[in-house]
Amino acid sequence: MCKVITIANNKGGVGKTMQAYQLSTHLAHQGNKVLVIDLDSQANLSTTLGVDVRRTLIPEWLIGDVEAEDVICPSEGEHDFYQNLSVIPSSRHMANLAKLLILSESEVRKNAGRKERLLKLRLQEIKDQFDYIVIDTPPMLGDELIMALVASDRVLIPTQAQDYSIDGLEELMDTFEIIKESENPGLEFNIIPSMVNARRKLERQRLEELAQSFKVTPGVRNLVDMQESIALRKPVFLMGKKSKGKADYSQLWDSLGLR
Ligand SMILES: Nc1ncnc2c1ncn2[C@@H]1O[C@H](COP(=O)(O)OP(=O)(O)OP(=O)(O)O)[C@@H](O)[C@H]1O
Ligand SMILES: [Mg+2]
Repeated sequence: MCKVITIANNKGGVGKTMQAYQLSTHLAHQGNKVLVIDLDSQANLSTTLGVDVRRTLIPEWLIGDVEAEDVICPSEGEHDFYQNLSVIPSSRHMANLAKLLILSESEVRKNAGRKERLLKLRLQEIKDQFDYIVIDTPPMLGDELIMALVASDRVLIPTQAQDYSIDGLEELMDTFEIIKESENPGLEFNIIPSMVNARRKLERQRLEELAQSFKVTPGVRNLVDMQESIALRKPVFLMGKKSKGKADYSQLWDSLGLR
């Protein structure tokens, strides 16, 4: 059965896209059929997976004006696992979504009941083609993130152990609870310490506090490895034995049972 996993945090720059990249490539490498959906108009994940589109059709696909075949693209890269990886790419035209949702309000209501359910509806039409669907989201509590949470089985929340990040997390958890109660009772979440610098005493304290409030997974350290992975478009599992990034992610995916 296909599992839908969203990477979310309304705070910017916490490592969401990094995590979506490492997760989707890891799952594809393990032999799973994976679909990546990039809901962020910055389109960083699409680009890193070798897919550049001038104009995304995600808004039109969501409201039912174009078919899934028109938005799904093959990923591109030199390894075999890319054959298991498809992408619904983003572009700055994602910004049209809000406008289109208003213009097609009555159709949306007829099809999905509420706009929050649109992505879930579209995924039901294509889920049987994939083992995993991985969704990257923009850093705000907008339509994209809400739709993704309604459509998902699990949400992974990369979090930095800093005051502002932890405040932002409370806002996200409130939204999560509302969606769980109203639209998606089966939704699960994991909080993942991101870009950890455990040599800093303050950060260690914050991490301990975070672990008192929530069940947290093993973290991913702040590493040069990880920046190289994006720059070279080379997932960490392809790095050498000594790579700390490889070790951190391998431990993380094991702890989450994502194989
Ligand atoms: N573990 C890590 N170690 C070092 N650098 C990292 C790590 N994770 C992410 N980065 C770097 O931090 C920056 C932000 O990461 P990323 O783009 O994944 O965050 P994001 O949450 O998706 O940001 P946005 O909210 O803008 O979408 C990038 O330059 C990325 O390469
Ligand atoms: Mg991002």
